[in-house]
Amino acid sequence: MSERVKQIVPELLDEIKGVLKKHKVTFAEYRSAFEYLIGVQEAKEVPLMLDALFNATIVEIENESRKGTRADIQGPYYIDEDYPIVTDELPSRPEDAGAQDMIIRGQVTDLDGTPVAGAMLDIWHSTPDGLYSGIHDNIDRKYYRGRVVTGENGHYCVTSKLPVPYQIPNAGPTGDLLEKHLGRHSWRPAHIHFWARAEGKRDLINQAYFEGGEYVGDDCCDTDHLELVVPEVIEDGARVMEVNFVLEPAQAQLAAE
Ligand code: DHB
Ligand code: FE
Repeated sequence: MSERVKQIVPELLDEIKGVLKKHKVTFAEYRSAFEYLIGVQEAKEVPLMLDALFNATIVEIENESRKGTRADIQGPYYIDEDYPIVTDELPSRPEDAGAQDMIIRGQVTDLDGTPVAGAMLDIWHSTPDGLYSGIHDNIDRKYYRGRVVTGENGHYCVTSKLPVPYQIPNAGPTGDLLEKHLGRHSWRPAHIHFWARAEGKRDLINQAYFEGGEYVGDDCCDTDHLELVVPEVIEDGARVMEVNFVLEPAQAQLAAE
């Protein structure tokens, strides 16, 4: 038996029981929560619901032990594959040729500000119409995904097309919970996902957001720390996303565990 489970689960149950008592929850209400959870299971939305409700909290906890750039939620659409190293542009769909251009660039440094050369950044984001390749609508998984490696001075630069706000699947019980029962919405601000890895450094998964963009600071997934909200800069018609990462040593990862 895990000591952590023994410690955490009884407390969790006591907290839930406390809320039930405080609000004098009836048997009928208890039954309707019961039916709701069966619906979540039947719609195969257990991962979606848990991620929407709790992933940001787990990230918050992780960030208490981070010294460099803060982490953010990974989201469900990372594809764990050896994507090719990109030196100029992330592959974009031919039909997106007219979409807004974007430049993603920045520098990776360590805690002292020393550039980290050879850091690998996995980058993935939605199409200009808010879908993820390899996941939605049979869009080829090669699009809007790739890896870049930082050069001698820790810099990287890649071009792509601008993503838009993303609506999590809202036709099922998770959408009902957010929209109908809680009066919230089911949107995430437009974002770019990153997974930074470098030798001797703690891995960092996070996201960059667009300053002034819709739903920034009002994310249905509750990512409220939003460290990387990038001011609007346009260069030759392209939206520039200047995203810098400070990576801490990997030892901190071990010490925290
Ligand atoms: C979800 C989708 C995302 O693109 C993301 O970054 C986080 C969550 C989702 O569908 O739950
Ligand atoms: Fe996403």
